[in-house]
Amino acid sequence: MSLPISHPEPKSLAEQGGRKPVSIPAPEGTAVQTVSIALGERSYPIAIGAGLLAMPGSFAGLPSASSVVVVTNSTVEPLHGAALRAGLAGRYAKVHWVVLPDGEEYKTSATLNLIFDALLSNACDRNTLLFALGGGVVGDMTGFAAACYMRGVPFVQVPTTLLAQVDSSVGGKTGINHPLGKNMIGAFHQPLLVVCDLASLDTLPARELSAGLAEVIKYGPIHDMGFMEWLEAHMDALRARDRDALAHAVRRCCEIKAEVVAQDERESGLRAILNFGHTFGHAMEAGMGYGVWLHGEGVGAGMLMAAELSRRLGLVDAAFCARLRVLVQRAGLPVRAPVLDERDNAGRYLEWMRVDKKSQAGEIRFVLIDGPGKAVVRSAPDALVREVIDACCAPA
Ligand code: NAD
Ligand code: GLY
Repeated sequence: MSLPISHPEPKSLAEQGGRKPVSIPAPEGTAVQTVSIALGERSYPIAIGAGLLAMPGSFAGLPSASSVVVVTNSTVEPLHGAALRAGLAGRYAKVHWVVLPDGEEYKTSATLNLIFDALLSNACDRNTLLFALGGGVVGDMTGFAAACYMRGVPFVQVPTTLLAQVDSSVGGKTGINHPLGKNMIGAFHQPLLVVCDLASLDTLPARELSAGLAEVIKYGPIHDMGFMEWLEAHMDALRARDRDALAHAVRRCCEIKAEVVAQDERESGLRAILNFGHTFGHAMEAGMGYGVWLHGEGVGAGMLMAAELSRRLGLVDAAFCARLRVLVQRAGLPVRAPVLDERDNAGRYLEWMRVDKKSQAGEIRFVLIDGPGKAVVRSAPDALVREVIDACCAPA
């Protein structure tokens, strides 16, 4: 896609009288791809390319702001803070930084308050712009802070994990965990812009890259078997961080997510398919204690459980389940789910799974595969779900 090269000095959101879609100037000498999220006045672009963080052009289309606050964490700041400082220097004179502790176990109201403390102690007003520099945890918390602060200020997603680039930074779901349930407190709040710098993935630990691949894989079974075939051919290249392969995967995932979110921004129906594997996965994350298994690891093993449940309901065949299992394994992900309770493991899973945003009157609703490339959201008899849990949990 060709991008505009120059534009007048952007106005602040207040001067504009509301939100205007951001356009992305092409930083010189870079190949930037864009995917658009079409949501009327909440539309925004996703820029995908290598080296975008350090380039002032990446942020040139953003509105002016009275305060700019970058939220990041103690792992990402030393790795990528300098690049973003360089990128923002050409656009914003003064930038405050908030460095949070790192980990899913810090995706809490207490950590969220650290962001509010920084905003209030720096006298940030309604014309403040937040940036989320980091993975899905930083992105979800920054977005939620932006949704709540003074009842809503704009923010920009700068995702630095594969998982965040292909999923969490896009679509406007923001929030925190509660001890009784994952992501149960949150808001829909769309960013102004998403900047995916593929070069930031160079520093990502291999285990985190694999976790991101779980969210990449999910788009195949639920929507695009052609993409699943592409993944089967390119899984080794992705794990070796081949830039072209990563660029294609990030773009295709964002395109699919954009298509789904544009039809159902607030998950009144279709959008739930993006949670393939998540009902089982969230139970693993919460049941083991946040941070023991990575989110993507829960999603990987959870997709296999959801596929197995689909098979037992007659929706897919064993060959499809085996094919998905091979791909998940090749991504470097666990294929056996953890035991959450030695005495009543299936009962414990069911208990956690009832605390899910898709549940209705205590009835668990699963994202299942209704033939390869098509997802359906429906309930299943507890007895069958118990059989699946018994069959899929470690030890083999
Ligand atoms: P994460 O944010 O915890 O990041 C994973 C780890 O990688 C962290 O230790 C982080 O500090 C580190 N890291 C980040 N970027 C790095 C880099 N470039 N180099 C080295 N280390 C880096 O986890 P995640 O997998 O990015 O995101 C998972 C979270 O996203 C979960 O909380 C999940 O609920 C949420 N999520 C949200 C959505 C959504 O739609 N909002 C979708 C999927 C997942
Ligand atoms: N990650 C699921 C969604 O954004 O809906």
